[in-house]
Amino acid sequence: MVSFWKKNNETATAEWELDLDHIPEHVAIIMDGNGRWAQQRHLPRIAGHKEGMNTVKKVTKLASDLGIKVLTLYAFSTENWKRPETEVSYLMGLPIKFFDTFVPELIENNVRVEVIGYIDQLPSATRVAVENAIEQTKNNTGMVLNFALNYGGRAEIVTAVQEIATKVQNGTLPVEAITTDLVSQSMMTAKLGEYQDPDVVIRTSGEIRISNFLLWQVAYSEFVFLDTHWPDMDETSFKQALAEYQQRNRRFGGLKK
Ligand code: FPP
Repeated sequence: MVSFWKKNNETATAEWELDLDHIPEHVAIIMDGNGRWAQQRHLPRIAGHKEGMNTVKKVTKLASDLGIKVLTLYAFSTENWKRPETEVSYLMGLPIKFFDTFVPELIENNVRVEVIGYIDQLPSATRVAVENAIEQTKNNTGMVLNFALNYGGRAEIVTAVQEIATKVQNGTLPVEAITTDLVSQSMMTAKLGEYQDPDVVIRTSGEIRISNFLLWQVAYSEFVFLDTHWPDMDETSFKQALAEYQQRNRRFGGLKK
């Protein structure tokens, strides 16, 4: 991992600096490590998810203050249904708790809520909480807080392929019209407009894998892996992750400018 030297702080050993003029536009986060955070404290796994929700609030506020355009958070995958029923049920309650307490602050900060994922398969109270939050924040023009809920990258690609194939079969779409842009427009992230693809994907808790997250969209994303468990993610570790992204030289397959 790249090490940084922290400026303006004599006591710190690591030095890093965040360039406020080059903040990434779309930041996507795999919020991992809630269970391990709880386990280390001899707490039930759901205590980790509860603290993880508080971290979502803090990071949302930080990201909005930094001028990030889209913050996508992987909150529940299409594979997370395999977890014990009690944990799934707790996770399904979290969006309700989160929006119940946090929508006024989202509005105050001009943040708009969006969601990607198969929300029609969520318990109705969860789906309604998400839909209400989208409706209540729809006129906000600041950062988009985009939750990936019951989301899976492969399922998303399959759905897009089915939609495209149906149009071809109907005769409304010629095969030659299937382009990269058309496929992008068929993804759930199409609603994010010019910010569909994450500039950087951050994963907490030391795991180095993508776990079916935004498979199409990460083609040219940078990846930052942190050892910190999600509930411990704070202002310093978030800004440090962005600073690490800023050290990268993005070439998109071309040559260094
Ligand atoms: C992965 O950690 C985390 C999840 C599957 C759930 C993430 C959910 C939150 C952070 C809260 C979401 C909040 C809202 C508002 C929807 P893990 O349980 O796999 O941790 P482990 O790998 O240490 O077991």
